[in-house]
Amino acid sequence: MAKKGRVFSGIRPTGRAHLGNYLGAIQNYVALQDDYECVYCIVDIHALTTVEDTENLRQNTYEIALDLLAAGVRPAETILFVQSHVPEVMELHTILSMVTPLGKLTDLPTFKEKVRQNPDNVNYGLVGYPVLMTADIVLYKTDVVPVGIDQAPHLEFAREVVRSFNYRYHTKVLIEPQMKNTIYPKILGLDGKEKMGKSLNNQIELAATPEETTKRVREMVTDPARMKRTDPGNPDICNVFTMHKIFSPQSDVDMVNVECRRAGIGCVDCKMLYARNLNHHLEPFRAKRAELASKPDLLKDTLNDGANRARAIAQKTMEEVRTALQLP
Ligand code: TYM
Repeated sequence: MAKKGRVFSGIRPTGRAHLGNYLGAIQNYVALQDDYECVYCIVDIHALTTVEDTENLRQNTYEIALDLLAAGVRPAETILFVQSHVPEVMELHTILSMVTPLGKLTDLPTFKEKVRQNPDNVNYGLVGYPVLMTADIVLYKTDVVPVGIDQAPHLEFAREVVRSFNYRYHTKVLIEPQMKNTIYPKILGLDGKEKMGKSLNNQIELAATPEETTKRVREMVTDPARMKRTDPGNPDICNVFTMHKIFSPQSDVDMVNVECRRAGIGCVDCKMLYARNLNHHLEPFRAKRAELASKPDLLKDTLNDGANRARAIAQKTMEEVRTALQLP
């Protein structure tokens, strides 16, 4: 069957993938493979903008690759590769930086958030982060980019850069990408307030053991107005209930919805039920991941093969870009 176009997305190897990555992006990575030619990239160079100690970078890159493969990325058809294995992206990043106003980069909410989180490490790479991300996307002539809602400003930025580039150099070489969210574009962390993420350590990792998962679920913040076991709760504002709706059978969701409101079930019981259902849901993922992890050579071969296939596309785009710029 003819594919509808090309999909590209990236994920940083700053640790193992968490439920936010899974529900906000990876589920779409997997689903889109049926209709699109897909390219998925583990963005190790982007990780360097915040990771100072690179001791675990290589291992974390393999961990993310395992997460993606265990979640259902199919490397025989989909290209799965590591960003630094295709260095053409750095060249395109430099070229795109010439059509990028500096003020636009420092105004981005994502940049301001990173500055807030890492005030002692505001490096040049952090400012250029969205330019490198744009280079990732356009290098592969991408039509669709599956991401969580936090990446929306970067996608809008990428579209502007494409327009500026094509206009300035009188070309149509670069394609304006479309963003694609899942139905869960923003998953909250254990605190029930902030976006789930590694930087706030409020995440639940897909590859955690059932025991670790249960422990993390116990830490989840519930309806703050419910102080005592006998107080009725409000599931509509409780993040545990939101997660029940994603991972629990309808009968459990209905039960919690009724019993929480009349204090028939306490928050601890409610969380333990969620932890059980979540662990049950993740069982096949964890089994497949363990099997893949037992074959490290196969994993490396998969990533090398992905890099070769990605590079062939990248080199062709760079030839077109160099021609458009009349680089000698
Ligand atoms: P990263 O590594 O932070 O996250 C990977 C993907 O997971 C999504 N995500 C979430 N979705 C919903 N709720 C959450 N709590 C949550 N946390 C993370 C992110 O939106 C993302 O889709 N800048 C990117 C990496 C990147 C990229 C690219 C993405 C580099 N180049 C080109 C697309 C295209 C990032 O930091 O993702």
